[in-house]
Amino acid sequence: MFDIQMLLGRFHPLIVHLPIGFILIAIILKSLEIFKKEERYRPAFVLILRLSILASVAACITGFLLSRSGNYPDRDINFHMYGGLALVASTIGWYWLETNSSSSKYNRLCFGITGLLLLLTGHWGGDLTHGKGYLLQGLPPQLRNILGGEDKDIALTFDISNIDSAMVYHDIVQPILEARCYTCHSDKKQKGDLRLDDIQYIHQGGESGEPLFHSDLSKSQLYKALTAPMEDDLHMPPKGKTQLSVFQIEAIGDWVSNGGDINLLVQDAQPNAAIYKWYEDELSDQKLFDNFLIPEQSVSKADENVIKELQSSNILIQPVGENSNFLEVSLINARDIEVEALQPLLGLVEQVIWLEMPNCELTEEKLALVNQLTTLTKINMAHSSLSETSLQNLANLNQLKTINLTGVNISPTDLEVLNKWTELKKIFLYQTNLNNEELIAVQQQYPALDLDTGGYQLPSIPEDTMVYKFIPKK
Ligand code: HEC
Repeated sequence: MFDIQMLLGRFHPLIVHLPIGFILIAIILKSLEIFKKEERYRPAFVLILRLSILASVAACITGFLLSRSGNYPDRDINFHMYGGLALVASTIGWYWLETNSSSSKYNRLCFGITGLLLLLTGHWGGDLTHGKGYLLQGLPPQLRNILGGEDKDIALTFDISNIDSAMVYHDIVQPILEARCYTCHSDKKQKGDLRLDDIQYIHQGGESGEPLFHSDLSKSQLYKALTAPMEDDLHMPPKGKTQLSVFQIEAIGDWVSNGGDINLLVQDAQPNAAIYKWYEDELSDQKLFDNFLIPEQSVSKADENVIKELQSSNILIQPVGENSNFLEVSLINARDIEVEALQPLLGLVEQVIWLEMPNCELTEEKLALVNQLTTLTKINMAHSSLSETSLQNLANLNQLKTINLTGVNISPTDLEVLNKWTELKKIFLYQTNLNNEELIAVQQQYPALDLDTGGYQLPSIPEDTMVYKFIPKK
């Protein structure tokens, strides 16, 4: 389809350079006139002022068309747009005064105003295309903060009191997009011609024109971007950025296949299994334990070279909190990693306290290595396979406070290791092959342990009044 509006609009970033250039020349010629008393440029000066008017009118028209393409937020455009209109008005005023009035006082006032408006409008326009603080980005961070060009990653937090009545977009998806995608897909920047900071833009999609939403996830550009291999240009967030957890990806998947409805409640979504799983595996755990999962004593900074080496094998490493030297290590992008590539972890024994290794093949060698990470307070190995080995291989982890064994094949003898994990407060045993009697036996043996079997926690009350319920989650 031929879209004249879009075609002309997209010339705006090119055309704006004309009035900038012309007005700058006019300013230089006028300055020569004022300070050097040079009169001989007068005819050129008047011509340049006329061209400035023409060019700035053209810039206004194309700018207006571009703004209608809908990729920019109104509040940010307004400054630039009114600045541009004021610039046209003051240029016309300046021209009129220069050619009709003999009062050099008003000439100079208009000249000053035009120069100022040129600077401001150009600056606001730059913010729109390159993002706020673009000019300052090359500065050292300390200096950048002083000048206000800071561009911080925001922490990912969720505030959900009841998952059933939570809203899929507002409470789950939007915070994830905000923390992990807005830096490149919002009012600041629109990489791939895509904005994700407002539901209306999300539904517009990006440059590929592929729909972001589809009941068949393999046809959703959004889900494809989140699940594409790391090397793929489409993989989001791009390599090197903080990645989404598998649970977050699948929770977004549930929203996508429901059509991206903004008012959808978790309990009404069809399907919603991944959202419940996300909540179970990631959030309820996080809510209950994150604080005391971080040791109180401090620790020295980890060796950057070791971190780089691990990252080169697609292992994700990030601090557990702002200003913390403790680290979380995740193998979600390196599930088939060889044990040799994990060896450098031993250089981070003091710092690594959280380990994410869901859906991994956990061999005896790998567990033996993990067993040396004795500062670990949290392990997530949901749906990992332990086929030839046993949890007994993790008996040294005496700081462990929570472990997620959802979907892992374990036997009652595996659980003898609980004697060694003296700090353990919570264990997820949902979808393991332990039967109800075995689970009850565990709870009786460790009454203080918070045993999560899928939404239902076995109550740790006196045994004679105990009622056990095992109702699988939807
Ligand atoms: C560091 C910048 C950056 C971040 C962060 C980022 N993206 Fe992107 N995104 C890009 C770039 C660059 C492209 C264009 C890639 C291409 O065309 O190959 C893109 C393209 C896309 C596209 C394809 C649009 C289309 O129709 O062609 C989707 C979907 C997408 N991103 C989603 C996301 C999501 C979801 C997140 C957050 C989880 C995210 N991106 C985070 C830079 C980023």
